[in-house]
Amino acid sequence: MPTDPKGRDQPGYARHVFICGHERPEGASRPSCKKRGSLELLSAIKAAGREQGLENIRIQKSGCLDFCENGVACVVYPEGTWYRLSPDIDIKSLIENLKNGTIDDDLLMRFDE
Ligand code: FES
Repeated sequence: MPTDPKGRDQPGYARHVFICGHERPEGASRPSCKKRGSLELLSAIKAAGREQGLENIRIQKSGCLDFCENGVACVVYPEGTWYRLSPDIDIKSLIENLKNGTIDDDLLMRFDE
């Protein structure tokens, strides 16, 4: 069976996590996730994922996910789970949920907050 340079025999991941890294200029009419620390959060989540042995789960920066008022916006596929992240989240718990395919209820994006 043919494989790619990483030894994979088909494209895709068990879970694919996008964290918004978009930044808007001062005075923009909408907020942006980068100004809320999304890139630092992304780095911390990726580092924790490596430490906790996350496998076949891709965590990466995205452009604007268009839920800017509820950011830092994060979406996890294939489930389509939407999270609102902030610098004080329990990253270890998030990683465990990603590993197990479960939902981190504390982080779900809700419009009533
Ligand atoms: S700037 Fe992050 S969702 Fe739009």
